Parts: sequence; C-alpha cells; structure tokens
Amino acid sequence: MIVTLKVRRFRGGESYVQEYRVDVRDLRTTVLDLLIKVKDNLDGSLAFRYACRMGLCGACTVKINGRPRLACATKLVDLGTDTIVVEPVADRVVKDLVVDG
Ligand code: FES
Repeated sequence: MIVTLKVRRFRGGESYVQEYRVDVRDLRTTVLDLLIKVKDNLDGSLAFRYACRMGLCGACTVKINGRPRLACATKLVDLGTDTIVVEPVADRVVKDLVVDG
C-alpha cells in the first residue's frame, strides 16, 4: 500500500507542505516509522523529535490528521486512511515538526 504523507515544514521563515509517498507493507506501521523511513530514504533534511519509541516520553507528539497524537503510538490501522497530514503540535516551531518547549 502506498501512503501519502503530507508534512508541514518550517524553515528559514517559510512554511509549506511537502508530500512524500511511502510504500508500506504492514498496517501496524506507526507514523513515527514513516517519518524515520522518509528521513532515512527520501529526505534527510526532515526534522522531528523522538526518544523512547514506547509512548512514554512525549517527544514525538505531533498533530496527525488535525489531532495531537504520539507518532510512535499511532498506527496506520488506527487512522483508517492512506493520506496522513503531519503538523507541529505548537506554534513555537524551531524547524519542521520540532517545537520549542
Ligand atoms: S518517542 Fe517517546 S512517546 Fe513517542
């Protein structure tokens, strides 16, 4: 299945949406897995935070399809769509999905 990931990016005072298409074989894949896949294979400049990958630390919190969620705990099967919009969770953006605080 091809998933379309639309990521709100912020850099150099500009904001724009960048679209990535990612081939996914398992619906238990998390949004964090997708972001890591994009960073490793498609666009090394994409900035986001994570740490525990177990739903404990909160570092990976982003807006997913308009709702604040932990990217490491949100699986494709939970979303029920192949189009995923990822945005920073707060207004104080440092870069892309990384926010201050
Ligand atoms: S990486 Fe720690 S909660 Fe997601």
